[in-house]
Amino acid sequence: MKIGNDVKEKAEILLRELTLEEKIGMIHGDGLFRTKAVERLGIPALYMSDGPMGVRAEFENAAWIPAGGTEDYVSYLPSNSAIASTWNRELAHACGSVLGEEARGRGKDVILAPGINIKRSPLNGRNFEYMSEDPYLTAEQCVPLIQGIQEHDVAACVKHFAVNSQETRRLWVDTEVDDRALREIYLPAFEAAVNRGGSYSIMGAYNLLRGEHCCESRFLLDGILRKEWGYEGAVISDWGAVHHTKEAALCSLDLEMSVTDNFDDYCMAQPLKKAVENGEVDEGAVDEKVRHILWLMLSLHMFDVDAERKVAVDTERKRGSYNTPAHREVTLQAARESVILLKNEEGRLPLEKEKLKKLLVIGRNADKIHSNGGGSAEIKALYEISPLMGLKTHLGGNCEVKYVEGYYGEDKQEDGTNWQEDSLKDGGGTGRQAEQVDAQTARKRKELLEEAVRYAGEYEQVVFVGGLDHEYDVEGRDRADMKLPYGQDEVIEAVLEANPNTVVIMVAGSPVEMGRWEKKAKAVVWSWYAGMEGGNALAEVLLGEVNPSGKLPESFPYSHKDCSAHCVGEFGEEKLLHYREGIYVGYRYYEKQNVPVQYCFGHGLSYTEFAYSDLAVEKQENAAEFYVNVSCIVKNTGNRTGKETVQLYVSDRTGKTEKPVKELRGYEKVDLAPGESRRVNIRLSRKDFAYFDEAAGDFAVNAGEYGILVGASLQDVRLIGRVTV
Ligand code: BGC
Repeated sequence: MKIGNDVKEKAEILLRELTLEEKIGMIHGDGLFRTKAVERLGIPALYMSDGPMGVRAEFENAAWIPAGGTEDYVSYLPSNSAIASTWNRELAHACGSVLGEEARGRGKDVILAPGINIKRSPLNGRNFEYMSEDPYLTAEQCVPLIQGIQEHDVAACVKHFAVNSQETRRLWVDTEVDDRALREIYLPAFEAAVNRGGSYSIMGAYNLLRGEHCCESRFLLDGILRKEWGYEGAVISDWGAVHHTKEAALCSLDLEMSVTDNFDDYCMAQPLKKAVENGEVDEGAVDEKVRHILWLMLSLHMFDVDAERKVAVDTERKRGSYNTPAHREVTLQAARESVILLKNEEGRLPLEKEKLKKLLVIGRNADKIHSNGGGSAEIKALYEISPLMGLKTHLGGNCEVKYVEGYYGEDKQEDGTNWQEDSLKDGGGTGRQAEQVDAQTARKRKELLEEAVRYAGEYEQVVFVGGLDHEYDVEGRDRADMKLPYGQDEVIEAVLEANPNTVVIMVAGSPVEMGRWEKKAKAVVWSWYAGMEGGNALAEVLLGEVNPSGKLPESFPYSHKDCSAHCVGEFGEEKLLHYREGIYVGYRYYEKQNVPVQYCFGHGLSYTEFAYSDLAVEKQENAAEFYVNVSCIVKNTGNRTGKETVQLYVSDRTGKTEKPVKELRGYEKVDLAPGESRRVNIRLSRKDFAYFDEAAGDFAVNAGEYGILVGASLQDVRLIGRVTV
């Protein structure tokens, strides 16, 4: 991200006018979500807001007390996992554009999104906020999303930089990760976000990396971000992630934010002012931070500069808007393409809408609202269509839709406190204990199970809607395991026993164990937290009005114990966490070690069929670069219009370096009518063949032969080609 010279010159004019006190006010929180204005010079405060799924509700400036009122209801967007599972860059862009326009409409300058940390373990409580286990897919989906946000004179704040892959002890956990994994797995999406996406800001993570707090890290912020990547945007701390005045002052952090109301005591507030005054820190360090904040403000057209009067003056800035019908349409389109058909035997789905006279819907997630939970990603959704409502509205009055809860889980009691206020305690995050069930709960569950089974036997058409909720997919806490909570396994098994045609639908933000019932289910559908129109999108898929086209952006293992973070590396309580698995994260590990998974990366079925043919692999070379143009023909051979994501994986056959079996390096989504075919083109370049050579400290390409594998998922490779580079 580069800032123009005109902006830089204007910033210098203001910078020269600012007193130390005023500068300090611009580089730390003077409210929970804002900095201090410099009224004398016309410089406004910088207003920030969470988060990735919509613009968060207003809080009082100095307390985690919701402002209340009706004006902060907003459009609820599909989660980043959902956006990733569309494998559709245009949709990611459209979602970003909604988020940016709504943030601007709500008067915000910075939206604290998207979250792009790599999903290293299925147990991370915040996985729903992130995109994928794969750096390429994350990069490809987050770049247009960021660009969409920033079209509205609002800054994206891509987070959490970096290697922030668990919630347990999130403030204090120190990660040891080798250079190769850092460069190949954990950093590429951030590099793409700031360089290709042009993200005007980036949020430093809570955790430590190689002994340094990420928000005070010379290695990460000075070395990699500023020096190597040439980043000129603003670096904002996570809320409460700064611990030392001098370290923060002397590294490339620009703005310290936190969760407490003692704003003057923040490291980069009065303590930093004192350190400058007594000569411990050079004022130039403060200037550098203010400079970045001014560049950000000018880039967002928050003001212009009158060079003669040396003050900030009004300029034209986009005004934004929120809750528009067009925004809701985007959330619906994205939700539709995010639904993943995991399994569909005997053509169990779609349900035949016209013939459907009676439908039994079992499961609490059918009737549950999720938008108000999850931590900082929570929002006040204008509305949220539940799966039950989606089905009812689509089926209308001629079909009897019977709902039973199926399983019991306790809804959290609102006690008026905000978790964020306490979020710096106890290391800032915890692991979770396996579920404890008291006698009363057990009784309730038994009753609900019996009721569900009774009805399942009576109804011909049954869908079960379960999964997780934001008690499990939540900031500040990791899951103990991948087991379905609330005794759902028993219910699903029993219901499938009573009615083997039951369609099982999981609504969740991270994978769950399905081993106890998956083989018995004929159809399994996956929905992430899919935004305000999620229930409509799901109903349309179930009823065949929309042909599913989502593909898994992460592997679904049988159990977390199969995952490399747990069986090779370390996860959880240790103060020093070794990412011993290195680059073998997600499918890179499962494939290398032949570990079977429940559903593989890239998997997702359709109601139609696609045939792949005519692979062409052509090399194009000049002195500076080489390209490999890959193309193939995809044909819709079924009888419904549908979308297919053609995935391209590269495998190194040179044998010169230890590498994953294959790695995702390209994808294209095509929309095809029955019988229609199209040639899909994907261009690879040098970086797509490169690995990080630790000895050389740089990316390198092995000369020799590579496999070009094209297909419908990691395991469903349809065409194989070769190329020598
Ligand atoms: C989260 C950030 C969030 C910030 C502000 C922190 O707890 O880690 O993602 O943006 O709070 O709410």
